[in-house]
Amino acid sequence: MKLFVINGPNLNMLGIREPDVYGSTSYASLCRMVEEHAAALGIQVELYQSNHEGDLVDYIQKAYGNADGIVINPGAYTHTSIAILDAVKAVGVPTVEVHISKVEEREAFRQVSYIRAACVATITGHGLAGYLEAMDLLTEGAK
Ligand code: DQA
Repeated sequence: MKLFVINGPNLNMLGIREPDVYGSTSYASLCRMVEEHAAALGIQVELYQSNHEGDLVDYIQKAYGNADGIVINPGAYTHTSIAILDAVKAVGVPTVEVHISKVEEREAFRQVSYIRAACVATITGHGLAGYLEAMDLLTEGAK
């Protein structure tokens, strides 16, 4: 079993950006946590981060035939990108939407999620643990 863990814009700035909202752990540490969790689950994982919408679409397309599940935090593209929604629908790979913060308790513009319509689950406000929970969900689903 292989999962893709995809992060969108500004998530490479974890630990630096708004630590009161997103915590003080770096993106590199998140990658290590995800890799260690994959090893504990006995699965393969590929991590990807981009600040560019088209690159994220390309990587989601790469999941077709290459991944059994996607964990994605599309960052701000959550609230704007029909292209990312369409990419997830196109590949038909079970996808879990993750947000570090509790988006439903933040600004009105964060209440819209285009990608949600194509996801099997959404996890918000669990901090970085949300990525690991999403990996658990997708791994359980495959058993
Ligand atoms: C986020 C929430 C988004 O609204 C924001 O644009 C992000 C991060 C989160 O993880 O809480 O970049 O997806």
